[in-house]
Amino acid sequence: MRVGVIGGGIIGLSIGWECSRRGHEVVVVDPAPGRGASHVAAGMLAPVGESYFGEHELTRLLVEAAAAWPGFVTALGGDLGYRSEGTLQIGLTVDDLADLKRLWEHQKTLGFAVEPVAPSDVEPSLHPRARGVLVPADHQVDPRRVVNRLLSEVTVAESLDDVDITVLAAGIGSAAWGLPIRPVKGVVLRLRGPHLLDHVIRGIADRRPVYLVPRDDGEVLMGASMRESADTAASAGEVRDLLRSATDLVPDLAEHTLAEVSVGHRPATPDGAPIVGQLRPDLLVATGHYRHGVLAAPLTATAIADLVEGKPLPAIWQPFQPGRFA
Ligand code: GLY
Repeated sequence: MRVGVIGGGIIGLSIGWECSRRGHEVVVVDPAPGRGASHVAAGMLAPVGESYFGEHELTRLLVEAAAAWPGFVTALGGDLGYRSEGTLQIGLTVDDLADLKRLWEHQKTLGFAVEPVAPSDVEPSLHPRARGVLVPADHQVDPRRVVNRLLSEVTVAESLDDVDITVLAAGIGSAAWGLPIRPVKGVVLRLRGPHLLDHVIRGIADRRPVYLVPRDDGEVLMGASMRESADTAASAGEVRDLLRSATDLVPDLAEHTLAEVSVGHRPATPDGAPIVGQLRPDLLVATGHYRHGVLAAPLTATAIADLVEGKPLPAIWQPFQPGRFA
């Protein structure tokens, strides 16, 4: 098949790569491939940390999506920054811990391993008052490395000519095709300094949530604000809130250099779940991944490649088809 993919973020590129390795001819169209939300994303692979009340079908999908990552990393090759130390979920105040305890109970009822630990024994740079758990199943990858690797494998062009089937994977740009997608802005900071952390930290510091993602090259990412906005500038308040929460949890981060402030837009749908399936016989869609684009990219790619080949949409994706918004 000749497959055209509209959108060169981690979703579109993963689809392009999967279709190519199955022997199809692929072209991805994007004026700035890899420069959208994938360039900003921290790359948490967090089916546990991202399991919210009342989202059982989505949680099931995210668990399967996480299981697809090790095979994807091996097949793609190269150092993609995939790390499996696990994630600490921590809070500082009594109120933070009350919120977290409800969440941990929920996570345990879903069958996830949530292990009580003394956080500052696991990560000595954490504030000694931090209390929390270790979630071994939540990992991380570096989306910029993944996207660069995919870009080296996939043909990117300026326009689509003469394709048999098109896949719409344009993130927030998918709204132009009439899909119910809206931008939810997120600010992410990148700090550099001496090695402080090995685990991903998802924390609440006096009711202010933040996540910290340490890379093996000394970079620490902190994110992310959540605003219903298409604004492309980071406000001073968003940056202050992230820095304040992060340095409350890890005081020594205050000595790091602030290397980058970036702004991305999560493609959000009305129910917070992706839109994956068939729009027309010659038009497939893979968009609306909201907070889960990096995590769900490999699983989305195999689902769309199956559809390209005329196979049925895998059962786990059935609840997430575009028709649910008709
Ligand atoms: N996946 C984390 C975020 O969207 O901020």
